[in-house]
Amino acid sequence: MSDKQSILTNRQGHPISDNQSLRTVGERGPATLENYQFIEKITHFDRERIPERVVHARGAGAHGYFEPTGKVGDEPAAKYTRAKVFNQIGVQTPIFLRFSTVIGGRESPETKRDPRGFAIKFKTVDGNWDLVGNNLKVFFIRDAVKFPDMIHAFKPDPVSNREEPWRFYDFVAMHPESLHMVTWVKSPWGIPANYREMEGSGVNTYKLVNDQGVAHLCKFHFQPKQGVRNLTSQRAAEIQMKDVGHATADLYDAIERGDYPEWDMCVQIMSDDDHPELDFDPLDDTKRWPEDKFPLLKVGRIVLNRNPDNFFAEVEQSAFGTGVLVDGIDFSDDKMLQGRTLSYSDTQRYRVGPNYLQLPINAPHEAARAHTNQRDGQMAMYVDQDAGNKHVNYEPSLLGRGLQEAPKPQKDYHQWVEGHLGRYQTTRTADDYKQAGERYRTFEDWEREDLIANIGGDLKQCPEQIQLRMVWHFWHCDEDYGRRVAQAAGIDLEKAKALPPLPGKPAPHQRRPQSTYTS
Ligand code: HEM
Repeated sequence: MSDKQSILTNRQGHPISDNQSLRTVGERGPATLENYQFIEKITHFDRERIPERVVHARGAGAHGYFEPTGKVGDEPAAKYTRAKVFNQIGVQTPIFLRFSTVIGGRESPETKRDPRGFAIKFKTVDGNWDLVGNNLKVFFIRDAVKFPDMIHAFKPDPVSNREEPWRFYDFVAMHPESLHMVTWVKSPWGIPANYREMEGSGVNTYKLVNDQGVAHLCKFHFQPKQGVRNLTSQRAAEIQMKDVGHATADLYDAIERGDYPEWDMCVQIMSDDDHPELDFDPLDDTKRWPEDKFPLLKVGRIVLNRNPDNFFAEVEQSAFGTGVLVDGIDFSDDKMLQGRTLSYSDTQRYRVGPNYLQLPINAPHEAARAHTNQRDGQMAMYVDQDAGNKHVNYEPSLLGRGLQEAPKPQKDYHQWVEGHLGRYQTTRTADDYKQAGERYRTFEDWEREDLIANIGGDLKQCPEQIQLRMVWHFWHCDEDYGRRVAQAAGIDLEKAKALPPLPGKPAPHQRRPQSTYTS
């Protein structure tokens, strides 16, 4: 902290020689309306809050860097991507990483059971690249049109303003694709010990594109050097009694004492085609790509080594979006990724303002400085054109004035697209139960016990219709899973098993094997 003294002024630059009292007529007299110093101060204060993020409102962030290995596993990175961020060995790219919880408001407890956001802004020499991920590698839904329904169900009841388990499970009961994510979130993995000791994942499927214009499907993951540590519900409750901001404090304190958190950045790669040989669709974000078939290949590391100077300016006003890609990284047809891409910049124009990209936290690296013909709007801080003729804010110009188009890449990536336009439910991954069952079976005993206790406790608060359907779902993931949930919540297993398949949803392909982990 600097001790440099400087003079207090208002935003007009006027020195303030008395910051202790209003201007009044006499010692006890009325205040006057021309009191500019006071009015400017108080009316700015009245506007200190901007809308909180509609999701992921509670967060903490830090600055750092990404350092590439120049490789994808053992192969040169250039084989897969021409993005400079992965190819310039030894060049550190500045990053800003914001962690968050999803459902709670801006001041909500960080001990909440919830996925954790893991959003990174890479300020690369090619411009910004945002990777807006979570700690868990899968998600609840696979079609972006379902997102508002899902968030409404998980947020508080619109009448009572209480988060209700029945609303959560009512949604899940009708969306079996959520079972995999629910199995993670209701286990201790739903409450990471803090932000440093958790994984990160881009979740959605992207593409890497090389110099020849050849694309590969890709998922991004981050493995913490600190290891992974999660909390049981009981341990989280103990922490929450004393502190609702333990994860922010943990991150801030670690960086202040020079204990910089670090993650290996890895990719999983698949050729860019439909992969009919797989029993899941690689574009379905409710499924994991099995790591024995698609290993995690290291591409570099990220390190966080500097706390923000100001929480609001940097953490609150930071704006990440899935549309923010650089040359060499591209969209896949993942329907969630495509839907998300509209949502982020749309909400940020509303939440922060149309010129949010002019704020220092969001503006690109100096080497990729923005030069646009976009003008005006609320809070336009400057004209981002420091070259060319400033009278020409359009393109092209017969006179050759103003901003010029950038050279085209040698080989553009062109995707072949053909098909009937319509609304489709996936038929490809009708089995939404398999990976949830696999996850259940691979948990450690204490994790499974916590999972069952959490779901059991929740289902006790749900109407019978939801209880029976949820047990039916869990039983189809793994018989032991269903049986133990039924037992924990006092639900009639036989009655649940007798339910017909969900109307309009494909029946589970087959009942999943009896787990070896019986209680
Ligand atoms: C934040 C929409 C799915 C991760 C947000 C915000 C919106 C949004 C509107 C607030 C952004 C802001 O105010 O700056 C959506 C939609 C989704 C979706 C429409 C699905 C169609 C996902 C998924 C993930 C994710 C699958 C995980 C990979 C995040 C994160 C943030 C966020 C980490 C917080 C970013 C930050 O720290 O500022 N999302 N989201 N979202 N979302 Fe999503």
